[in-house]
Amino acid sequence: MNIRLGTFVTAVLIGGASFVAHAGVEQGQVVAKGCVSCHGAQGQGMGKTPALAGLKADFIVEQIKAFQSGKRNNMMMSTIARKLSEQDALDVAAYFASLSAK
Ligand code: HEC
Repeated sequence: MNIRLGTFVTAVLIGGASFVAHAGVEQGQVVAKGCVSCHGAQGQGMGKTPALAGLKADFIVEQIKAFQSGKRNNMMMSTIARKLSEQDALDVAAYFASLSAK
């Protein structure tokens, strides 16, 4: 019981601190597991799939919203983008923006 409570408090403290420091980068890394098979393990791009590493977070969020709304259309990306919540989009954008372009 004590151990569980301790783990919970620690998780909240670490989570809270990273939220302030990196605005969802760690959460974004979890979301990014669904992106790296096409965009590359480090978001460096693969084949015809564009790199995401080092792009501006605002730009990434804008593109995700464009795929969601149909303003921008790509069979693969539109399907994936529609599965993301607004928070997922913000987090994953912060994550890829935090990586350096290769
Ligand atoms: C099945 C392969 C695939 C997966 C998985 C995938 N993408 Fe993509 N993504 C693409 C392709 C292909 C394009 C280029 C689309 C186009 O040309 O319009 C693209 C384009 C993009 C763009 C626009 C980049 C630019 O420079 O305009 C963003 C942003 C993006 N993806 C984000 C993501 C995120 C975030 C995830 C994970 C949640 C993800 N993608 C998962 C295939 C994928």
